Amino acid sequence: MRAAITATSKFVPDDVLTNHDLEKILDTNDEWIKTRTGISERRILKDPSKATAYMCSQAAKDILDKRGISAEEIDLIIVGTITPDMVFPATACLIQDMLGAKNAWGFDLSGACSGFLYSLVVGAQFIQAGTHKKVLVLGADKMSAITDFTDRTTAILFGDGAGAVLLEPAEEGFGILDHHMYSDGTTGKDHIYMLAGGSLRPSSHETVDKKMHAIRQNGKVVFKSAVVGMADAAVEMMENNNLTGDDIAYLIPHQANHRIISATANRMNIDLSKVGINIHKYGNTTGATIPLCIAELDEENKLQRGDNLILVSFGAGYTWGGMYIKWQ
Ligand code: UT7
Repeated sequence: MRAAITATSKFVPDDVLTNHDLEKILDTNDEWIKTRTGISERRILKDPSKATAYMCSQAAKDILDKRGISAEEIDLIIVGTITPDMVFPATACLIQDMLGAKNAWGFDLSGACSGFLYSLVVGAQFIQAGTHKKVLVLGADKMSAITDFTDRTTAILFGDGAGAVLLEPAEEGFGILDHHMYSDGTTGKDHIYMLAGGSLRPSSHETVDKKMHAIRQNGKVVFKSAVVGMADAAVEMMENNNLTGDDIAYLIPHQANHRIISATANRMNIDLSKVGINIHKYGNTTGATIPLCIAELDEENKLQRGDNLILVSFGAGYTWGGMYIKWQ
């Protein structure tokens, strides 16, 4: 039995941080940011008492309403995030509490920008095994919590948000039909990371003074790997399933850079009108980019039964992969 996405939802904070706002605190400009990344603005969760679990709970409540089910019916909660509220307990447990999903179990999954796709693959296994009927899969990050707003090479890129999908047993021939996930720590581990806060470098005055609790990346190197990794993963899904560009209703890619997204669409031979894009308004929300995109396409009634969707991601680790869904 395959798994299908049966409901979608999203949450983004109200506060908007525009490129022009960033011009006031950094040596950067709107034109550079838009041309190099495609980003115009991003959302920031300013309330210090709220974090990733709150954003997830908002998206999750919405999904329960949309599907008309109670929180008690959820069997499993998986959260793809690199910005959990705390190292432990898991964000999934905090969300369970906020929802009152008392029959669920849950855990967080650390896959960075591929965290949502990884979580979707994991969640689908429990549906396929026949042991779980309703799996809530979330991708969410409060990237503003780990952004160094004095570093123009990263501060312009990231934003906060959460997206959620509900997985249930699919009708015959629908749902998640194929996927292939990858990781390559050998090539990727030194190019995008947060150095401190884990067991190797616990928080100390030194880690704070040296700003080691913020994301750092070697943008150019990651860019080159991402262009190849995302496009290869997308083309692999098409070839494995005998799909041409004409057969694809939507490519739903991780949103790190508009140029990476365009290069992927180009390799797939599809027009940009068939690509889910929201990087201009949300920036890179890491685990949330793909579910935010799916939820928005769904809200706009753009996803039709039988549509072929290709989901692709690339991020820290490196982690990457592709998925083929026939929309139910
Ligand atoms: O989601 C996780 C995976 N991450 C990614 O996939 C991100 C991949 N990388 C990228 O998207 C791009 O590499 C960036 C958007 C991060 C950077 O774009 P780039 O075209 O690779 O720029 P660059 O780093 O080569 O910098 C070009 C120039 C440099 O100046 P010089 O050396 O040519 O004089 C930078 O110092 O632009 C300068 N620069 C900036 N200028 C204005 C760097 N950041 C900025 C800035 N504003 N914010």
